Amino acid sequence: MARKGSYEIIDHAFDVVVVGAGGAGLRATLGMAEQGLRTACISKVFPTRSHTVAAQGGIAASLSNMGPDSWQWHMYDTVKGSDWLGDNDAMEYLAREAPAAVYELEHYGVPFSRTEEGKIYQRPFGGHMQNFGEGPPVQRTCAAADRTGHAILHTLYGQSLRNNAEFFIEYFATDLLMSEDGECIGVIAWKLDDGTIHRFRAKQTVLATGGYGRAYFSATSAHTCTGDGGGMVARAGLPLQDMEFVQFHPTGIYGAGVLITEGARGEGGYVTNSEGERFMERYAPNAKDLASRDVVSRCMTMEIREGRGVGPNKDHIYLHLDHLDPAVLAERLPGITESAKVFAGVDLTKEPIPVIPTVHYNMGGIPTNYWGEVLNPTADDEDAIVPGLMAVGEAGCASVHGANRLGSNSLIDLVVFGRAAAIKAGKVVDPSTPVPSVNPASEEKALDRLDRLRYADGGTPTAALRDKMQRTMQEDAAVFRTEETLQSGVKRMSAIFGEMSDVKVHDHSMIWNTDLVETLELENLMANAVTTVVSAEARQESRGAHAREDYPDRDDKKWRKHTISRLDENGKVELSYRGVHVDPLTEEVDLKKIAPKARVY
Ligand code: FUM
Repeated sequence: MARKGSYEIIDHAFDVVVVGAGGAGLRATLGMAEQGLRTACISKVFPTRSHTVAAQGGIAASLSNMGPDSWQWHMYDTVKGSDWLGDNDAMEYLAREAPAAVYELEHYGVPFSRTEEGKIYQRPFGGHMQNFGEGPPVQRTCAAADRTGHAILHTLYGQSLRNNAEFFIEYFATDLLMSEDGECIGVIAWKLDDGTIHRFRAKQTVLATGGYGRAYFSATSAHTCTGDGGGMVARAGLPLQDMEFVQFHPTGIYGAGVLITEGARGEGGYVTNSEGERFMERYAPNAKDLASRDVVSRCMTMEIREGRGVGPNKDHIYLHLDHLDPAVLAERLPGITESAKVFAGVDLTKEPIPVIPTVHYNMGGIPTNYWGEVLNPTADDEDAIVPGLMAVGEAGCASVHGANRLGSNSLIDLVVFGRAAAIKAGKVVDPSTPVPSVNPASEEKALDRLDRLRYADGGTPTAALRDKMQRTMQEDAAVFRTEETLQSGVKRMSAIFGEMSDVKVHDHSMIWNTDLVETLELENLMANAVTTVVSAEARQESRGAHAREDYPDRDDKKWRKHTISRLDENGKVELSYRGVHVDPLTEEVDLKKIAPKARVY
């Protein structure tokens, strides 16, 4: 179909283009720029408004500032937290590199909270234990009060500018540019404030676009978390991995979805049911309220289902901090003190906060190795890489979190793997070679899509279709799943995907056209949502965040493998599987210690 609009293209050429300016995107950008690579960072929001700014409780690293710890304990907890689906090489890399990555942040200027002796303050977090899981909880989560993401993001942005990275702010990357032979050669982006279209050609493109929490009705994620990287990858014919694993954070504020950090329980908070019972003691006698967050979310859901929820509809749970010293709350948890007041009308020094498990994180995403290089598994090579393309942070799936991520392992993932991508790029990108030239076919395809959505003239407003998708995902791909709910989810989501052809965009302008932005985002969300339900329906076991009532046990024989999902343009998803990397990086890891076993806290 002929295009209705005409689009003049402004060309840019860089060694590296990073899409996204959250923690992973900025850490990658900084690392690239420090090495003298000509680096562009494109972001649809101002960098310090990226969703990392909302990360509260902290960043995990075995610094041993507040008691004994080791990277081997951290690795063990991550392996166990992942329910033995994570790749051992990636998990070893994360735990080993974490202390150096945090000290680097300190030296860049992150204003961490301090102990009496001036060391970085560390708090306990769910699933992080001493002695290879034996306990007690370890103080491993380095914090800047409860605004750790905010502190990191501002520091990394400043450092990136200092190193001459070029920022393209409020540019929406719409599609990848691919060469005829499958190499990524950059992205096409729309400059939101003047309507111009920009071609970024690059030797290396890094997707750091975050998660897709907004595929659900209630999420702690910002409204900008629309899985843009996953959408671009799927449209380029590349796969997604482990999309069935969606994390619910135990303590989203009831009704508002706003995050109350796990750091609240790290500082001594606890949850109760309608009988005033601290029920986590029953379910997880050792770790109690500091069990892994998938476990706490399930326990809360069971309490509510069994009639012990609180409130008039008995549909939520209380989180208590009212027993803590107000000075501790003011010093360590000022952000949630404010959030509780604003979003729940609660003075948390006096009353409990109403909370409910809320979608928080996507373990699945764009498959990568631990250097961030994107994988496109083939029959001959499960670890085949896509030249020129990397993915880091929540957009990627290294797979370092497997079936369930531990709290505070996200911020450390962002900086460790953002940094790893820069280290790798320093080796594979040669600044003296020419930047790849244009592939007109790939560019035309991207512009055709933009034009099609800009002039979409169906009968369904974007907001109505998005609402339908979000409610379906919330109902059918929830904390607990069954064949019935998942089959319903597959059917409903396939139909909803098809309804994209009936979408209506009212505003055809190119300047600050939020109607079009939301429609482009919705198409990205759809790709993530449909691959999530299809992958979940197929996985007939319970593992980590994927809890099947009809298959309550983990089945390592059949299912210790990654789901690879490929989406066609009609919304059809094709599944295949790829092996978990069971070999760690070094012999310093005791294989017997990390062998699969029952996961109890
Ligand atoms: O609870 C929190 O502060 C969230 C941390 C995380 O998701 O890592």
